[in-house]
Amino acid sequence: MVDSREISSKILSDIFYGKSFEKALLTNKEYAKLDQRDKSLVSLLVLTTLRRNGQINIVLSKYIKKPLKKNFLVNYLLKISVAQILFLEFPEYSTVHSAVEISKKYKSEKFTNAVLRNICKNKKHLIKNIPTTNNIPDWIKNGLKDFLGEKRLASIANQICKEPCIDINIKSKVFENYEWEKILKGKNVFKNIVRIKSQSNIADLPFYKEGSWWVQGLSSSLPVNIINTIFKENKKKGTVLDVGAAPGGKSFQLIDLGFKVKSIEISKKRILTFSANLNRLKINSNIINEDFLNAKLKEKFDCILIDAPCSGSGLMQKKPEMLVVKKNISSLLHKQKKMLLKASSLVKDGGYIIYCVCSILKEEGEKQITNFLNDQKCFSTENFFSDILEFGMVLKSNTFLATPNSFGKKGGVDGFFIACLVKNKV
Ligand SMILES: C[S@@+](CC[C@H](N)C(=O)[O-])C[C@H]1O[C@@H](n2cnc3c(N)ncnc32)[C@H](O)[C@@H]1O
Repeated sequence: MVDSREISSKILSDIFYGKSFEKALLTNKEYAKLDQRDKSLVSLLVLTTLRRNGQINIVLSKYIKKPLKKNFLVNYLLKISVAQILFLEFPEYSTVHSAVEISKKYKSEKFTNAVLRNICKNKKHLIKNIPTTNNIPDWIKNGLKDFLGEKRLASIANQICKEPCIDINIKSKVFENYEWEKILKGKNVFKNIVRIKSQSNIADLPFYKEGSWWVQGLSSSLPVNIINTIFKENKKKGTVLDVGAAPGGKSFQLIDLGFKVKSIEISKKRILTFSANLNRLKINSNIINEDFLNAKLKEKFDCILIDAPCSGSGLMQKKPEMLVVKKNISSLLHKQKKMLLKASSLVKDGGYIIYCVCSILKEEGEKQITNFLNDQKCFSTENFFSDILEFGMVLKSNTFLATPNSFGKKGGVDGFFIACLVKNKV
């Protein structure tokens, strides 16, 4: 039986080479053989190491003169051991002992022992002067300093070190019928959303099989709440085109609220997940499997919701693997721009485009919108954000940005950008 720490090191290494956390777990044969307790330990070790990678690198660099090769497993074993000692408060002796035992396979036991013993000795002083902002990679951090300021950046960095909560969005039809806070052991944080502690198997939660709810991050639910506010009076009359619809959270919300919806999604694989979710929720939807940019849609829409593909930089707390891989966002920026342009030709006069991305980068959010408005003079932004201000802030451009530190005392939210664009009648 392979030790859980060695399995964690291998999984961590796969993530550094570009696999997602889920894929790295799924493709590890030794992980599959572990019992539930050890599987949870692996998740804890890997996720904590990812969240603290920047700080861990600085600590290790004090005791390792030459950086270790990227493909050397001991590299990852050391990172995990530092996370155990400094951030998870595991007993030092057993942490060092098991790391040394694993290192024997890689002929590095003396080296591992020396590095980790030094870290244990200086544990108290080591992390005091290494701010958590070091965990945010430069490609995200550099622009954010100017955009959001050092202080907000520091609170975001502190928030993303914490384990995220799970938000459960409950169907309107059943929301009033039960005491959901008790049933799900959570807190009703906004509208129909109950927030619960992280959970390893969602399908085991009550009323999952009955299709009474779906998992949806609070901030990801905000664009549809805004659409609902806009169309409050005549929602039955409006048709919404949900662009980039899978796995379906926003379409489910729209249908649940009584909107007529068309969902367009390019990825066949993601449509399978979308359809499985629809079946479980017993909801019907009109799904079009096409590239929105080439789709020949004949009708015009009252509202087009674009949940554009993006860097996902708002999801640093939920998907900490993004903290260790560099992303090139130029092709995403190009696609977001083209999606906005296409939507501008398909929305009715007086209708709305709701553009959103789960990113906190200015280029994917506010800048994308100011560029669009410069080119498209018949559009302007409107502010429908008054009841969601506790989750973020209104930007100069009259758009909204949820940042992970907002709502921090209640577990934070994913970073999310939203713009409401109205097509003015000329
Ligand atoms: C952020 S995800 C959408 C999440 C979804 N709206 C929800 O709430 O569950 C973006 C989606 O856009 C899809 N997408 C990317 N390019 C597209 C295109 N050209 N046409 C249609 N869908 C596209 C991706 O496959 C992905 O599923």
